[in-house]
Amino acid sequence: MTSTLTKNSKLIAWVEEVAKMCQPAKVHWCDGSEAEYRTLCDEMVKSGTFIRLNEKLRPGCFLARSHPSDVARVEDRTYICARTKDEAGPTNNWTDPVAMKQKLKAMFTGCMRGRTLYVIPFSMGPLGSPVAKIGMEVTDSPYVVVNMRIMTRMGKAVLEALGNGDFIPCLHSVGAPLKPGQKDVAWPCEPDPANKYIVHFPDEPSIWSYGSGYGGNALLGKKCLALRIASVMARKEGWMAEHMLILALTSPPGKKHYVAAAFPSACGKTNLAMMRPALPGWMVRCLGDDIAWMRKGDDGRLYAVNPEYGFFGVAPGTSAQSNPNAMATITKNTIFTNVALTPEGDIWWEDMGVPAPAKMIDWEGQEWTPDCGRKAAHPNARFTSPASQCPVIDPDWEKPEGVPIDAFMFGGRRPCTIPLVNEAFSWEPGVFMGSSTGSETTAAALGKAGVLRRDPFAMLPFCGYHMGDYFAHWLSMADRGDRSKLPKIFFVNWFRKNAQGKWLWPGYGDNSRVLKWICERVEGAGKAVKTPIGNLPTAEALDISGTSVSAEDLQELLSVDAAGWRSELDNITQYYATFGDRMPARLKQELEGLRARLGQAQCHKGQRPGNVL
Ligand code: GTP
Ligand code: SPV
Ligand code: MN
Repeated sequence: MTSTLTKNSKLIAWVEEVAKMCQPAKVHWCDGSEAEYRTLCDEMVKSGTFIRLNEKLRPGCFLARSHPSDVARVEDRTYICARTKDEAGPTNNWTDPVAMKQKLKAMFTGCMRGRTLYVIPFSMGPLGSPVAKIGMEVTDSPYVVVNMRIMTRMGKAVLEALGNGDFIPCLHSVGAPLKPGQKDVAWPCEPDPANKYIVHFPDEPSIWSYGSGYGGNALLGKKCLALRIASVMARKEGWMAEHMLILALTSPPGKKHYVAAAFPSACGKTNLAMMRPALPGWMVRCLGDDIAWMRKGDDGRLYAVNPEYGFFGVAPGTSAQSNPNAMATITKNTIFTNVALTPEGDIWWEDMGVPAPAKMIDWEGQEWTPDCGRKAAHPNARFTSPASQCPVIDPDWEKPEGVPIDAFMFGGRRPCTIPLVNEAFSWEPGVFMGSSTGSETTAAALGKAGVLRRDPFAMLPFCGYHMGDYFAHWLSMADRGDRSKLPKIFFVNWFRKNAQGKWLWPGYGDNSRVLKWICERVEGAGKAVKTPIGNLPTAEALDISGTSVSAEDLQELLSVDAAGWRSELDNITQYYATFGDRMPARLKQELEGLRARLGQAQCHKGQRPGNVL
């Protein structure tokens, strides 16, 4: 039970208390070594949780298949148990923290019977970085241990960095105790969705997660700590914890710009973060694909750090065409979850860019043929892969103080109305853009996909406090020092469709064309038209040489659809009303200003009112 790895008395006492409650057969303190990782993988191959992939084709890679009830984040079972319901706000589930703790304690009592309790010391942020936070995840899932070793800096070195210091307790159980002699299953979990609980106590802070072994429900460093808990800390301490990728873009003459972008789940962060630009001479380097922690530096600029150590990326749609750098990253030492297995012992998924073999085993372990009418991989199938394996990882990605951000991008899946790219006039209109971000839902969360929902700053499922206060926090960044040092803000939409339902924009590597214009605007060049909604590129300003985008399509992509915007504004007005008196007046003014400008503009679909800047 006791560890030779730490003398931290608070930690030792906490683990003892948790073990007493959960009643595991054994306790294992993770040292994070390669040997430990290998042993756990071998044990999971024996137990049937892991399938070892073909060592020649995918060295060091494994496939896991989850229980069909446990395939994505469960937003309706995710709680922010702040002191009051009002502090959690209308976008979060809330229960009284004392009552919830009591309920969880009852559920956790005896929940690890017959299993091993693993203690995972992990650091979000480079070890020893002043911005890093140390968490301790206790889990009964070896799958979680090996995934955490890829996704975070984990093990003995973290305990050394911790010393006698404080940590964030993260308690996780799959919620499937074993009776004496009971045979285990490949993916133990609590199959009844009503018995899954992903609970945050921001005032302690601590995290309790019960019943799911999948992704953000179970790898508690990611969404639970680095976003929900960190967002609460960030507000108190004057920094930002955001659902953003971080990339570096270098122009042909060698000028480097850092961009951070917030898109909702499964809306293109991983793809953009490591894109191969279609534009010759431009270079993209990746610093992170999901989370950014940002603080003002002494020079007044915002510096971003990726708190993670790996990628937990969407597999379907990833191909040599769409994301060659992701394909190169996942050639080795990668865990695949819910993808299909080929007869050669390799992996396959929809839109991988290679034909489906005549016969395979699908993500549910069933025989699959191309005509069977089922998807071979689950739409939220994922790969867990070390960031260091990405061929375009930026040399500065582990810099303890981070990199200075020049531009923010927000975006979502919007088949109509929202233009390809739109530059905010200044910080407040930019915060308005972020706060009113909408997107069609995806398979990343359980529930119906393809429905438009507001997802402010792509943080709807991840903001750990009242959304109105979060908007105010964004606005306040302009009051902390020189506002001209803040990043410029842009809204992008790769997902516009034509009347036939086809993408109007090629996307992926061609998104570099939009990034190029963004860099030009940051540098004070780049032609734009001032319109009621923001600054849009002139048709000539966007470099579409060598694409199949027609002049008409470009016109549609860069037009102000006034009628569409009016109904958009009505929808945003209703949305803002849900935040009551915590909704910042500044943003309501932005909304009314936009309404007034649109009213005056008399613009019709396809027309571009405004002056060339
Ligand atoms: P999370 O890991 O859930 O936060 O998702 P993410 O934002 O990193 O999403 P990801 O990059 O994995 O993209 C998810 C899906 O969007 C994949 O199916 C991609 O093929 C698709 N996608 C990404 N970029 C583009 C694009 O530029 N155009 C189009 N049409 N689809 C895209
Ligand atoms: C997301 O849903 O935004 C993800 C995947 O990045 S998960 O880690 O499951 O939250
Ligand atoms: Mn994400």
